Amino acid sequence: MADKYAVIGNPVAHSKSPLIHAEFSRQTGQDISYGRILAPLDGFEPTVRGLVEQGYQGVNITVPFKVEAFALCDALSERATAAGAVNTLMFAGGKISGDNTDGAGLVSDIANNLKVVLQGKRILLLGAGGAAQGVMLPLMQQQPAAFMVANRTIEKAERMVSRQAGFSHLPRASTFAGLQGEFDIIINATSTGLTETALPIADSIFAENCLAYDMMYGRETPFMKQARENGAQVADGLGMLVEQAAEAFYSWRGVRPDTRPVIALLRSL
Ligand code: ATR
Repeated sequence: MADKYAVIGNPVAHSKSPLIHAEFSRQTGQDISYGRILAPLDGFEPTVRGLVEQGYQGVNITVPFKVEAFALCDALSERATAAGAVNTLMFAGGKISGDNTDGAGLVSDIANNLKVVLQGKRILLLGAGGAAQGVMLPLMQQQPAAFMVANRTIEKAERMVSRQAGFSHLPRASTFAGLQGEFDIIINATSTGLTETALPIADSIFAENCLAYDMMYGRETPFMKQARENGAQVADGLGMLVEQAAEAFYSWRGVRPDTRPVIALLRSL
């Protein structure tokens, strides 16, 4: 029988993870099944424990359960600890291990698919919620020259920056209005794309040859539009979605799928 995996969320019907993992499985010859599981908002932990009992090998976690998943793990990877959230669980030997592959997925999409070097660049991360925190450590590990976190609520950006113990010299916090100078890579990790809200950021922050990356996908957000109008190379988060899935697949199966045909497939749908 195929090894069982799934994505857990609420809502979860929209999730592209089953399609992505089915493609990975077909491509690599790994015999897995990958389902979609809707957990009640007040019933995440029993849902996970039930899947362990049913012999599942692992699950991906999507909104709104990534912090709850973090809390129930017996063991955590370094990047999951830094993120304070978990998007990948592994079940083995009666223990639940948690990982967070979102940041690695973002870095991989920027470096390998978009072919933009992160090392030595001035990086600006917009937002200080769960999505931003999830990607901060892997981005800083790429050794940028400068790293700024800007957020509407400055205290949250300051808190996020102060938690980065090993990189205390590097990250700084700002409000949107307080941003000064230019940035080479600007990543939108706020949820403003969902509501078509424009961020109060100046046109002058987009450096020449800037990469503007929105972690959302599916349509052009106001941030992407502003970036495009200011001459930036613009990317949405579809590549990150596939890359974080590939990283989870690798953790579970020890095999690295080829992400490019899967990104192309999703773009064609
Ligand atoms: P997620 O898991 O998507 O990160 P979150 O933790 O609720 O969700 O964080 C949402 C992020 O989008 C935060 O950085 C939030 O800013 P605040 O910390 O000030 O709340 C940001 N955000 C949401 N709506 C916004 C808006 N209208 N303008 C600017 N930032 C917004």
